[in-house]
Amino acid sequence: MKKGMDPDEMKELVRKGYEEGEYFEHYRKDLVIDDLEKWLLKEFLQRIPSGGAILDLGSGPGVPFDRHLVDEGFSVTGIDISEKHIKIAMNLVPEARFIHSDFMQCTFDEKFDAIMSLYTIFHIPRNMHSAIFRKMHKWLKKDGVILVSMGTSDTPVDVQEFVGAEMAWSSFFINENLRIITESGFETILTVDDNRDPGEHHLWILATRKE
Ligand SMILES: C[S@@+](CC[C@H](N)C(=O)[O-])C[C@H]1O[C@@H](n2cnc3c(N)ncnc32)[C@H](O)[C@@H]1O
Repeated sequence: MKKGMDPDEMKELVRKGYEEGEYFEHYRKDLVIDDLEKWLLKEFLQRIPSGGAILDLGSGPGVPFDRHLVDEGFSVTGIDISEKHIKIAMNLVPEARFIHSDFMQCTFDEKFDAIMSLYTIFHIPRNMHSAIFRKMHKWLKKDGVILVSMGTSDTPVDVQEFVGAEMAWSSFFINENLRIITESGFETILTVDDNRDPGEHHLWILATRKE
């Protein structure tokens, strides 16, 4: 495990890892949303006005999640730093809008009804996690909702092989994640500590924006 890494170095490692690795082939090609994800998406979507605008930070190949949101009648904007993933997403979810960018660098004129970021925040250096939630707060309409998954370990930076390429992760313990979200102006609706797979421990958080 590395103790520290420059944020730009980590961003480039992650971007290159998704360009060269086979995430889509290993995890997303068969379009499966598992039972826990289905339930969380249901809880999330029922809090968004019909046809509302949803921003997806780290949208990956667009399937299965953005595909599901579009099929449920929502207007979806996905952002991803991997050009390969953006191309797959544009092909498989042509009704959505996809932006090839680092979401930490994005600005928006419009406001969204909801924002989700699934299996992505742990690729951003953890000292930038507060900034992500503050951006979400700014980009959301009043009473907007977020659905995110995060890491659960006290890990400044971890670099390992993942689906055929080098990849980096960074995370805090559960309580620190929850503190960051609350301090960034959100009220938690529900949390799920998902440790079904010993190799992949995720914290899911559904929260609503406070003024
Ligand atoms: C594990 S994948 C998850 C993709 C999708 N949310 C899903 O669940 O299938 C993580 C995604 O986050 C993207 N990503 C990582 N850092 C990013 C950044 N700073 N800006 C935009 N996308 C980023 C990667 O390119 C990758 O597609």
